[in-house]
Amino acid sequence: MKVLTVVGARPQFIKAASVCKALRAAGHTEYLVHTGQHYDYGMSQVFFDELGIPQPDINLEIGSGAHGWQTGQMLIRLEEALLAQRPNWTLVYGDTNSTLAGALAAVKLRIPVAHVEAGLRSFNREMPEEHNRVLTDHIADLLFCPTQTAVDNLRNEGLTKGVHLVGDTMYDAVLQFAEAARKRSTILERLGLKPKGYLLATVHRPYNTDVPENLRNMLTAFAEIEEPVIFPVHPRTRKKIEELGSAVGGRRPTVNPRMIDPLGYLDMLALEQDARLILTDSGGIQKEAYWLGVPCVTLRTETEWVETVEAGWNVVVGADRARILTVLRSLVTPAQHPALYGDGQAADHIVGVLEQNDRR
Ligand code: UD1
Ligand code: UDP
Repeated sequence: MKVLTVVGARPQFIKAASVCKALRAAGHTEYLVHTGQHYDYGMSQVFFDELGIPQPDINLEIGSGAHGWQTGQMLIRLEEALLAQRPNWTLVYGDTNSTLAGALAAVKLRIPVAHVEAGLRSFNREMPEEHNRVLTDHIADLLFCPTQTAVDNLRNEGLTKGVHLVGDTMYDAVLQFAEAARKRSTILERLGLKPKGYLLATVHRPYNTDVPENLRNMLTAFAEIEEPVIFPVHPRTRKKIEELGSAVGGRRPTVNPRMIDPLGYLDMLALEQDARLILTDSGGIQKEAYWLGVPCVTLRTETEWVETVEAGWNVVVGADRARILTVLRSLVTPAQHPALYGDGQAADHIVGVLEQNDRR
């Protein structure tokens, strides 16, 4: 069986890692396409190095740009790759422009499409990811869902054929790398931090970065927190913070947040594990916080990962300064921590379903 995999953005490298490994272990051929959506070393290559992901067979080097331009460029180049490779399956991950471009290029060529992390919905059509998810799910042949909620979302849109509940490949990665992160990462020493003596924050959603009032509110809230707030800054966010300039205020703006460059996966997992609490608008980090038993405050108005909220480990607060600070003071997590998002073998389940459904 030959699979053409499309990745391009940071979370997709992590989502794909365990599946790349499982495909090879089962003796299949994978042609790995990197669209080049993310390209800085710390946003791309570091994940291939640390997670042992094979080097891409081709990097399309599309880079950054407006949504239509970026997706269109990817579509043209992915069509060429698909025509040259003629795989049994095109495998796409998550909800980025690389996901939609891969699925669309393949379906037009009548090459079967499998979508990993299908069925996720925020029900917020302001998010570019929501367009990518909905469109990809409706053209995919196989829909690999991480949760029952995702299966239900698809059913509500009339999608029942090809739907498989397999768990979350990001959980596979956490199980595989949490111990290595603990042993190999020196990030706490490098930053002079004590376990449970700091908070960890990440922000990159356009709703938070591109609306100056929201970005200012969040930075002001971070500046008012007593404990160190470690903030690995996504390049999109760094640009927007620079544009805000001196408009960023707060009681202790010179102390918090401590802005650092984006981290590699092992340093990130190490910082997550020992944080007292995580503040984030990231999808992946909300789940990692849960798996690592760290309370999470989600800097959005809704989440796709509703199970973490229902379990009492995640609170959705938006970008409101006062709400963020109130929740930080009052958040108490329950004693229960039910297993969520599968058995840590999502990659094996995915490869099994691809094999069973291969018609060539
Ligand atoms: C993208 C995804 C988002 C995902 C996120 C993960 C879409 C629409 N969005 O958002 O779903 O959560 O990746 O991180 O696909 N940049 C660099 N260096 C890089 C990459 C980006 O400087 O290596 C800067 C560029 O200025 C670029 C901006 O970041 O314009 C945004 O990058 P882009 O890939 O368009 O969107 P993300 O915000 O990263
Ligand atoms: N991540 C990382 N270094 C960072 C920030 C995030 O390794 O500085 C990892 C994080 O642990 C998770 C994934 O990147 O596995 C999440 O990606 P991101 O937040 O960019 O995207 P999202 O999940 O919101 O789509």
